Amino acid sequence: MYASASAGSRSEQRNALVTGAGSGIGAAIAEALARSGCAVVCTDRNEAGADATAARIRAAGGSAASLPLDIADDSAVATLPEKVVAGLGAIDVLVNNAGVGGEVPTSGLTMADVRAVLRVNLEGAVAVTLALLPQLRASGSGRVLNVASIQGFRGARDSLAYGASKGALVNLTRDLACDLADDGVLVNALAPGFVNTPMARYADGTTEYETDWFRTIYVENARIPLRRPAEPEEVAEAALFLCSPANTYVTGQVLAVDGGMTATF
Ligand SMILES: NC(=O)c1ccc[n+]([C@@H]2O[C@H](COP(=O)([O-])OP(=O)(O)OC[C@H]3O[C@@H](n4cnc5c(N)ncnc54)[C@H](O)[C@@H]3O)[C@@H](O)[C@H]2O)c1
Repeated sequence: MYASASAGSRSEQRNALVTGAGSGIGAAIAEALARSGCAVVCTDRNEAGADATAARIRAAGGSAASLPLDIADDSAVATLPEKVVAGLGAIDVLVNNAGVGGEVPTSGLTMADVRAVLRVNLEGAVAVTLALLPQLRASGSGRVLNVASIQGFRGARDSLAYGASKGALVNLTRDLACDLADDGVLVNALAPGFVNTPMARYADGTTEYETDWFRTIYVENARIPLRRPAEPEEVAEAALFLCSPANTYVTGQVLAVDGGMTATF
């Protein structure tokens, strides 16, 4: 649990917190940050998932702890600074990755559907960021990475709430980058395209990437120039530079990790 994170010395180790670290892209980012030398707090509303990611990191020789956290629960988010300070003393890297999908035809969409998505994907990311602002500012080289989506700047059918949440995340990345620049906190976003994670999985365990429509449009017709979805580890590699101290001049940017999809017509 949380107490098993070893506190990082301010001079040599960076401390990172990843939301939604119990699965898919968040787990891959947490593991990549740990390999790069960060002590990582793996948070997720799925406690078992967060525990499993932290255990994998420790088994590989890294430093990690897990913390159950539903980012849509304001009272839980409010306890975050206290728990993080008690465990690590500071947070240098925040990765706002937790998110929910959900395709609903707009004709059947309710405001409850819309609010449920915005609550996690937008408000949850903002709440966690605001809660950890003092720690990020105190770092001197803080980094925030928001996991958005290419749906933040492209439209798609049946995705009104998801697309709106990711579009908002894209622009709040720019706003926050302006606000935190004087504190040395660099704020960027990733915009993944298709990624092979549980979010892309149907109830029967198959993925949309095995369907005829995906093969025809995205692979055979090269709508994705690289002709395949990404693996979560490939998204994590892109995250690493943006979160690292080696990144000293990239802020307010959104990096598409989409196999070239948004480079084409
Ligand atoms: N998979 C894709 O194709 C894809 C593409 C673009 C963007 N993304 C984004 O990447 C991020 C990660 O998605 P993924 O594909 O790894 O999906 P995933 O379903 O594998 O992982 C999402 C994780 O977020 C957690 N989570 C959901 N709601 C939460 C909440 N309220 N509080 C805390 N944790 C919560 C889940 O428990 C899960 O562990 C999401 O923001 C998603 O929108 C995914």
